[in-house]
Amino acid sequence: MSRRRDKPASSTSAVHSGEREGRPRVSDSITTPIVQTSTYWFRDTQEVIDYREGRHASFEYGRYGNPTTRSAEEKLRELEGGEACLLSASGMNAVTTLLLALVPAGGRIVTTRDCYLRTRQFIATILPKMGVETTIIEPSDVAALERALEQPVSLFFSESPTNPYLCLIDSPTVAELCHARGTIVVIDTTFATPINQQALALGADLVLHSGTKYLAGHNDVMAGALVGSEELMARVRELHGILGGVLDPHAAYLLLRGMKTLALRVERSNQNAMAIARFLEAHPAVERVRYPGLESHPDHAIARSQMSGYGGVVSFELRGGLEGASKFIDALRIPYIAPSLGGVESLVEQPTVMSYWDQTPERRAEIGIRDSLVRYACGIEDSADLIADIEQALERI
Ligand SMILES: Cc1ncc(COP(=O)(O)O)c(C=O)c1O
Repeated sequence: MSRRRDKPASSTSAVHSGEREGRPRVSDSITTPIVQTSTYWFRDTQEVIDYREGRHASFEYGRYGNPTTRSAEEKLRELEGGEACLLSASGMNAVTTLLLALVPAGGRIVTTRDCYLRTRQFIATILPKMGVETTIIEPSDVAALERALEQPVSLFFSESPTNPYLCLIDSPTVAELCHARGTIVVIDTTFATPINQQALALGADLVLHSGTKYLAGHNDVMAGALVGSEELMARVRELHGILGGVLDPHAAYLLLRGMKTLALRVERSNQNAMAIARFLEAHPAVERVRYPGLESHPDHAIARSQMSGYGGVVSFELRGGLEGASKFIDALRIPYIAPSLGGVESLVEQPTVMSYWDQTPERRAEIGIRDSLVRYACGIEDSADLIADIEQALERI
């Protein structure tokens, strides 16, 4: 039997891509050096001209590129299977730069209801300053998308899975409908990672990550990422060079190192989340569990067809309202009470208290954030330990 393989598996790419081939070889170190510089020098004017005309491979100024960052971009580009990748200072920087670059003044976008708060705020408060209108639909409501596309739409933007209810969009259907109308499809795939979901292969034109989460994976660095076609990424890169939200070279190194273990970490947090979701679903103190890997999740069939793992986050509602959920969280001993997800340490939060405290109860109800909701982001600890901890905390409600 032939063992030749056309393309390495994601776990192999996660370790090697972007670092062995193509990187400038300043030493024989296995690790990619941190090129801590803000600018690059040229030997003479001819070298500047050669650089400008593509005969001399180098960099010019830190806002337009860095060798360490380039290696990290190359690794993620390969993992997502895209033509080009751009890293930036945070996930929000990727969101804002992308929308400003690709949505024209007076344009229209379609987005989905369950969404990271800051992205929602940017769309609701900043885009209207450019005359951009937004239609918000339920993530799985294909009929609503078809209605929205009756008018010209510049861009469709959704998380998948969404934050915090872990809804899925039917990506191939969304992409087919949008592409028939010339609408760009962008999927924030932060919660899935390229290990669990290949969003470009499912039809997205661009994928977005808060690299702060699983890609970096150690709760120690902020980063954002976009991967897509050369053509779209050139437009985003141009504005990125103007807005200036570049990733620091040291942060790029941490991201590069984090990505080497991405496949292992994601696999473990998938397993932890599945075990916790099943445990919670059978517990009388739990009213509802939202995890795409459970048959009870409304988008389970879509998740099964699009994802190879269901992610490390479990959202659930407890009996006992706001106070019950707070008591549960306070009784947990392993996860930190903290926003974010995707690191080796498990984190837990009550969205009403952590992110939505300054929203009115009416506004929270409108966007569907329930007081008893808990978001548990699994790290890579042992699942039996996490479950034993959850069990004792549930007894304290
Ligand atoms: C789905 C999603 N997208 C984007 C962001 C923003 O990323 P960052 O915090 O890296 O700016 C977050 C942050 O929590 C998120 O959950």
